Amino acid sequence: MRRLAVLILFIISALPHAAGGAERVRLDLSREAVERGKDVFHSSCALCHGLKYYRDAEHREGIKAGMESEAMKASLGAEAPDLSLMAISRGKGTEGAEYIYRLLTSYTVGGDGRMMNAAFAEETQTEGAIAMPPPIALDDPELLRKANDVAAFLLEAAEPAKERSSVGAKVIIYMAVLTALLYIINRLTWMDVKKRSPWK
Ligand code: HEC
Repeated sequence: MRRLAVLILFIISALPHAAGGAERVRLDLSREAVERGKDVFHSSCALCHGLKYYRDAEHREGIKAGMESEAMKASLGAEAPDLSLMAISRGKGTEGAEYIYRLLTSYTVGGDGRMMNAAFAEETQTEGAIAMPPPIALDDPELLRKANDVAAFLLEAAEPAKERSSVGAKVIIYMAVLTALLYIINRLTWMDVKKRSPWK
């Protein structure tokens, strides 16, 4: 009986990992981060990327990229995609935002001087040559903070906060089920020791 208990516990504790995938970054997705991220977007991304589905008091018809996509293609060799839905198209839950964070923080310069990006390599299943120059200078002392904040903003822009609260509800249900199971396992375990019915 005790072995069964250990097995059940193992399965329960492994579940969130199986659902979440490998390496994760823990982002600050607070309201403050989202607000700061909006500024980062305007100062570091909006030249090239639009947010056509984004709405706020100042932008009732989305945000248009500062540069024409034809001009961008001519100068960089690729168009910059609209980022409205990027944070939900690159993974479920917060994975897409984590991807954006890693994208902005995993640049290196290849041997031939080309910009390489580890997150982009993983995503595109290529060696990682990327047409986007590092949008936040790699020696900017605030690189990590800015990358976090703009990722938080893009997640918020893609998936308004109210939808995300249902994730909170799921976590609470999960915790409740876990507690109930732990209680039962505890009873079953002690049953062996006390040699009597677990429910007395
Ligand atoms: C100088 C123009 C430019 C700026 C500024 C810029 N980008 Fe980009 N971005 C691009 C281009 C071009 C691509 C397409 C890259 C490719 O396909 O090789 C791209 C692609 C992306 C992608 C998609 C990567 C993928 O998985 O396909 C994301 C996400 C992104 N940029 C985020 C940002 C963020 C966030 C900022 C601001 C912090 C930003 N970009 C600033 C030009 C820019």
